[in-house]
Order: sequence, then C-alpha cells, then structure tokens
Amino acid sequence: MGGRGLALVALDQVGKTYAGRGGAWEAVRSFTLDLQEGEFFCLLGTSGCGKTTLLNMLAGFERPTAGRILLDGASVSGPGADRGVVFQGHDSLFDWLTALDNIGFGLRLRGMGRRERREKAGHFLKLVGLSGQEGKHPSELSGGMKQRIQIARALAADPRILLMDEPFGALDALTRATLQGELSRIWKETGKTVFFITHDIEEACALATRIGVMTRGPGGTLKAVIPVDPPFPRDRTSDGFMAVFRQVHALIHAELAA
Ligand SMILES: Nc1ncnc2c1ncn2[C@@H]1O[C@H](COP(=O)(O)OP(=O)(O)OP(=O)(O)O)[C@@H](O)[C@H]1O
Ligand SMILES: [Mg+2]
Repeated sequence: MGGRGLALVALDQVGKTYAGRGGAWEAVRSFTLDLQEGEFFCLLGTSGCGKTTLLNMLAGFERPTAGRILLDGASVSGPGADRGVVFQGHDSLFDWLTALDNIGFGLRLRGMGRRERREKAGHFLKLVGLSGQEGKHPSELSGGMKQRIQIARALAADPRILLMDEPFGALDALTRATLQGELSRIWKETGKTVFFITHDIEEACALATRIGVMTRGPGGTLKAVIPVDPPFPRDRTSDGFMAVFRQVHALIHAELAA
C-alpha cells in the first residue's frame, strides 16, 4: 500500500452529538483525517475537546452521529480484534490472572492452545521489559508495570492499530519518561500503527511522526496537523525538538485563550 495509497484509517467528516440528560451536546464536529500504516499519530487538545470521544468511535465503542470511519476500507461498526485499546487506568486487567495470563487472555478467547498462547504472551512480556514478572498478579505490580501489561496484551492480539488514551497520564514523571522510550522502541520494532491521545505536548513531540491539534469544544475538530521530523530517539533539548514544541504550544494556547 504505502505512500498516499489507501489509508489504514479514514475519518471522514466524523461528528458526535450526545443526547445527554441536559440536552444534546456536540462533542466532535466534522473531523477528517487519514492515518497511514506505520505512523505514530498523537492527538492533542484541551480538556473536553472530544479526544476520548474520537478514540471511542475508532474503537467501535461509540457510533458517530455524522460522517463515517473506515478501517482498511471497511466501515467500523463495533469493537474488533483489529484494534487494540489501552486506557489511562489499569483497572482493565483481571486480578485473578497472572501477568502472563492477562497478556494471553484475548488469545485464549480466540481459541489458541495453551502452549502457543504462553509462548506468544511470553514474547510480548519480554518485549515490554517484564521478564521474570510473569507469575505476578496485577495487585502485586506497580502502576507502570500494569501499563506495560496492558500494552503487551493489546499487542499480543496483533491488531492493525493500537489506540491509546493517555496511557501514561497516571504515572510519575520518571516512569512516564521510561515508558515513552519503551513505547517508541516497541513501535519501531513492531511497525504498528499507533493513535495516541495525550495532554502532554512534550510527550507528543517525543513520540509522534505527526501531531494533530484539536480546537476546543463544543464541537471539537482538527485544527492543524504538524509533521514531526527529528530522528528517533529524540533529543528533547535539540533545536528541532524545541521548534516543534513551540509550534504545538502556540496552537494549544491559542485554544485555551479563545
Ligand atoms: N456519554 C456522554 N454523554 C454526554 N456527553 C458526553 C459523553 N461523553 C463525553 N461527553 C462530553 O463530550 C465532550 C468531549 O468529551 P471527551 O471525553 O471526548 O473529551 P476529552 O477531549 O477526552 O477530554 P479530556 O482531555 O479531559 O479527557 C465533553 O464536553 C463531555 O462532557
Ligand atoms: Mg479524554
């Protein structure tokens, strides 16, 4: 495919209006974006601008009320194994399962045999840097470790795209920086397409191949898309990095001031 061929994901004038108890609320308006295979797209925007709503529609948890979403050319009509989702919290892990069995859970649902499953789960456990922790249960793991397991679990299902909603938002600064580095390495090793939501401009500048900035809500939409060119691993003190940071910062702060 490659180049400007068929996009992996096409969001075409996507809108979402919730029918809330206090009346209709337009969360997202006419959002149009193509995601190419292999890219790391970061979506930034002020709180409440509609980022999670967009991710939920991509994941198939919510239906758009306008426009359409295509994945590999087919309309998204519900959740599917072709999309791996990682949320901010870590409560989606099963505490009665070990780290290894959490990672292999989706494979079990798909009917994969125990040996193959353990082998595959072990591979992804290693990929996220948790070798030796396979027998622990989520309550015996740190917040950062639990996020690693969520990432490993999402990757083990071999999705077409990884959807991440502020996956490192609840972590301390040091763990956060470490996991950013790990995710970037994993992205390169696996060649996965990533759609990543964050509030953190520096995080987006460190990880993304493109950054999308949204307008503030209601009716949040895509305001600008900025290609991020500095080579990986990125030097956060380099002029190239700073230049992108400044550009994104200005776009976001114009929305805060609006
Ligand atoms: N189920 C819902 N029913 C009604 N309104 C909703 C619902 N979910 C979200 N909204 C509203 O839609 C808007 C966008 O919410 P959303 O969660 O997508 O924002 P966000 O950009 O992810 O914000 P944050 O950065 O704080 O996570 C908000 O005004 C929110 O109140
Ligand atoms: Mg959100």
